[in-house]
Amino acid sequence: MIMSENVMLRIAVQAKGRLNEQSMDLLKEAGVTVSQEKRKFLMRAADFPAEIIFLRDDDIPQTVAIGAADIGIVGYNEVAEKGLEVNILQKLGFGGCRLSLAIPKTEEYTGLEYFNSKRVATSYPEILRKFFAENNIDAEIHTITGSVEIAPTAGLADAIFDIVSSGGTLVSNGLVEVEKVVFSEAVLIGNPELSDEKMALARQLMSRFEAVRNGVGKKYLLLNIPTSALDEAIRILPAMRSPTVIPLANSEWCSLQTVVDENNLWTIIESLKAIGAEGILVLSLDKIVL
Ligand code: PRP
Ligand code: ZN
Repeated sequence: MIMSENVMLRIAVQAKGRLNEQSMDLLKEAGVTVSQEKRKFLMRAADFPAEIIFLRDDDIPQTVAIGAADIGIVGYNEVAEKGLEVNILQKLGFGGCRLSLAIPKTEEYTGLEYFNSKRVATSYPEILRKFFAENNIDAEIHTITGSVEIAPTAGLADAIFDIVSSGGTLVSNGLVEVEKVVFSEAVLIGNPELSDEKMALARQLMSRFEAVRNGVGKKYLLLNIPTSALDEAIRILPAMRSPTVIPLANSEWCSLQTVVDENNLWTIIESLKAIGAEGILVLSLDKIVL
């Protein structure tokens, strides 16, 4: 496809909060960079035909649904709550959290029936309404935007239904999580009627995001091994396909290169040393394009 020069993808990103930093890091790793200094509401990327619009996460699904932004990075929680017409293009593997019910830690939790006739404060009334209806719970839902966690202390509610990630917010407000209702992570959403040209740009970004994700937790290993131990070394190395073997000037030795999981790194290194590997180099790796 021939791109017309002025096609530009508008990407909605959370202006501040839980997902902002990782969203911006992912875009940067994918070659979409905006100036760090004077942050404006709308910024043109220096190196990709895109502009970034910074919004409250709550507003991202609607902005994408009406086409004021073409794609957006937002928590699945917001997408599920708003129930608007957007396509989920890709899960992004960060911003993991859940939407949970929490009550004051001084209360005794007796099971879901606990919530009958209770007042529950939330910014996610639709998800909660559905959950209570499915479980035949008759509670009063109070919709609040922002600082839901202070509602019980402030006497506005008996319980809350909100995002829990590290759990820090709950602890500092004397609350305990009693029911996990929905799991969420950051997703890439798209307007359902993107032009072919914009869709092509979105696909290009999606494959870059995937390459960035594939590199997470991986290391590149380079080592020398006696040729006699080569078969054994190949068995130890769980390469993506098979490790690269390069002959050395001294035919009794060869060089091996491969990608390994950071989790198994030390076990692999020790097993390789035990069969005579030398000159082991561990290099960091940031993208894997499959
Ligand atoms: C959520 C939620 C809590 C916090 C929980 O806010 O409202 O404030 O994250 O995280 P923790 O368990 O790690 O303490 P979010 O950033 O999703 O956006 P919001 O400000 O729009 O609610
Ligand atoms: Zn929000």
